[in-house]
This record gives sequence, C-alpha cells and structure tokens, in this order.
Amino acid sequence: MKHAMPLTDFLSELSRAVENGTFVKLLLSHPTSNADDLKSVEIRPILVKRDLKLSFTYHHKTRDIVKNSTPTEGAALVGRMLGKSFTLARLLMQEADVHLSFQGQTATLTRHPATQTQAPSLTHDRPKNRTLTNTHQGYLQALGLTDAQGHVLKTAQDKFRQIDKYIEILDGLIRALPANTAETGPLRIADMGSGKGYLTFALYDHIANTLHRPVEVIGVETRPDMVALCNRIAQDNGMENLHFVQGSIADFDASGTHVVIALHACDTATDDALAKAVRANAALIVVAPCCQKQIRREMEAPHNTKLPPHALTFFLKYGTYVERMAEMLTDGLRAQILEICGYTTNVFAFVSDAHTPKNVMIVATLPTRPKKPEDIAALKAALATTKSQFGISIHYLETLLKL
Ligand SMILES: C[S@@+](CC[C@H](N)C(=O)[O-])C[C@H]1O[C@@H](n2cnc3c(N)ncnc32)[C@H](O)[C@@H]1O
Repeated sequence: MKHAMPLTDFLSELSRAVENGTFVKLLLSHPTSNADDLKSVEIRPILVKRDLKLSFTYHHKTRDIVKNSTPTEGAALVGRMLGKSFTLARLLMQEADVHLSFQGQTATLTRHPATQTQAPSLTHDRPKNRTLTNTHQGYLQALGLTDAQGHVLKTAQDKFRQIDKYIEILDGLIRALPANTAETGPLRIADMGSGKGYLTFALYDHIANTLHRPVEVIGVETRPDMVALCNRIAQDNGMENLHFVQGSIADFDASGTHVVIALHACDTATDDALAKAVRANAALIVVAPCCQKQIRREMEAPHNTKLPPHALTFFLKYGTYVERMAEMLTDGLRAQILEICGYTTNVFAFVSDAHTPKNVMIVATLPTRPKKPEDIAALKAALATTKSQFGISIHYLETLLKL
C-alpha cells in the first residue's frame, strides 16, 4: 500500500511524543463514508489513577462518547482509523505539529511549527488534581511546606505547586524508562545542586511509595548545612535509599547513574550536571537552568561589536533583550549539544511564569536507535552557525564534553 510508510512514521511520532511527555493532542477529521455519523475524534493524554492513558473523545453527530485506552492500544486504534475512517490527522506536540493527510491511496506526512507549546495537562477537565496527594508526610512538614495537619502552608503554595508539577512531569518520564533488572539494579538518580531537597524528597517518595520502584537517590550539594539537614530528615522519615553528599557537582562520580536532575543549579553548575549525565550515558536528563551568565558574558565581549549585523542585532542594544536572548541561547545551545551527544530533547515551560520566572525545563532522553552520523554532522554545523552569529566562541558545556 502506498501510504504504509507515512502512516508508520506518523504512529512512531505519536508513540515517541506520548513516551516523552510532549504529546498535547491528536485530532482526526475529514471523515469518510466508513465513519458513519462520526464527525471527528480528539485524543489527549490523561492520568487515570497515576497511569498514563489516551483519552478518545468520539464526536458523533448528536453526542460525544469518551473512552480511554493504554498508549499502545490507543496508537493501534489510531492506525486502524487513519486512511479508512478519517483522511486527516493533526498531531500536536510541544516541539512541532505533524499532519498526515490521505488522498485516495496516497498519504502525505508534513511537519509544521508547534501551535501548542505548553506542557500538556494530564488531568480530566475538572479542577486540577495533585500528583502529591498525601500531604500528611513528615518530610513535607520538616521542610516547612505543610503544617501538622498536612495542610500546605500559605507561604509554601507556590513552592508546593512547583514540586507537584515537577513530580507530574517526572512521573511520566520515569514510567517510560525500562524496568529495573538484576543487571541494572535499582533506578539510580542523582539530583545535582539539591539545595534544601524539596524536589529530591518528593521524587524519592513518589518513586518508592507510589510507583513502588526500587530506587536510590543521591542529592549533591556544596552547602554542608543543607546536606546535614536533608540527611537528618531522610533518616527521621525512614527514607533509607535517599542520601545527600557534600561536594561540587564537578567532583561527583556519576558513573552508573540512570537519571540526572538539576533544578536551578546556578549558571554553569547546570553544565557540570549535563556533562556528568552524558558521560554516564544517563537514560534521562531533566534540568531547569537558571542564572545563564556565561553566554551573556560572551555576547557582550568586545569582539562582538565587530560582528556583521544579523536579523537580531537591533534587539541587542536593549539590556532586557540581551538577558532574554542570553537565556534562550544558553539553554537552546545546551539542548543542541545534548542532541549532538545522541539525545532527543525537549524544552518547555514547566510551570507558569506567574509562579517563577525560572520555569524552562530541558528534558533529554536516549532514543532507542542511535542517530545517523549525517544527522549529527548537521546538528554540529547548525550549532557552529548559531554561535558565530552571536559571537559565542564556546559554550561551557562544549568545553566540559571536549566536543
Ligand atoms: C537555587 S538552589 C536549588 C535547589 C534545588 N535544586 C531546588 O530546586 O529547590 C541551587 C543549589 O545548588 C547548589 N549548587 C550550586 N552550584 C553547585 C555545584 N557546583 N555543586 C553542588 N551544588 C551546587 C547551591 O548551593 C544551591 O543549594
């Protein structure tokens, strides 16, 4: 059949986006006579009792019917409907939109800029459920987030929302990782620059007590007071596979680590964490960078005044745009360097900027098939072009990875 390949590619794209947590919505439209009175189908990801499902809303002429299925069954179902009952499918992902259209037996796959870049909401259409449902936990109180009755303190609402959102995102990403085996041992996670450990504790609790997965979590932190406090809270709460070590990220031995996390690790500490993750061949990397100073310094270096003008030169005379551009470039180049190292990346705002301006998250996962050398070469060329346009001689992450 002529459209076998585009359809297969489209379904792989769907499965990959569901796995990576970037799938926002899939719309099937332009019904054929096989669809009877079915007008269209809308599919989106939801969490049902913490399990990721695909929710299918079948829009009939006079009524809507909603049915949920597992991601695998759901993708198979979409495959059966496409080209038979519907001739247009629009897959909305955070990184891009992909359309599959049929004309007779010919299927065409096209890629478009993303129309929905926000992280998908995984809840039903009722007020948002929390992922961290059990707030009667000693560690939450010890960290100053809840009171003795398990109520989230007024002063901790933003922090709690951020932690909850973070666990919601990590939940899907961790579930998508291969199961533990005798060979791999428990899931080993390093949280680089763990600070007071808000996210470290919540993640450990979620994986150990909700996902019931064998896990070892290590928080790496320079401040001895934070390390001592966190180790005491972990001990008091019987979290025996959660430990905090004092030291710098650059000196931490990350070999054998499956997941590397760094949230708001300042400036180039994020690069130290990324380099450790790449060297450990970590299956999952999640960072939310902050204080992107290195690239700003490069952008403002004297040699930049001699650069030939480019489309964005005009903006660079305004300090606020320089700052935003430095942030975008720092993190965009980080994502691109990770792509060059073989990862598939996604960059998105993980909480609203009403709660924190440090809300950009980079997620990197190792694809099942290694990238082709020609694709890596193209990524390297694009990286060089971007850097030269902005007068950036080197990104600190490149130095660390000796690219
Ligand atoms: C802004 S706090 C974030 C803490 C925590 N990750 C969170 O999101 O709640 C950054 C923490 O990283 C630590 N840090 C910064 N650079 C570090 C480095 N190179 N090695 C280890 N810890 C570092 C700081 O001491 C600080 O506690």
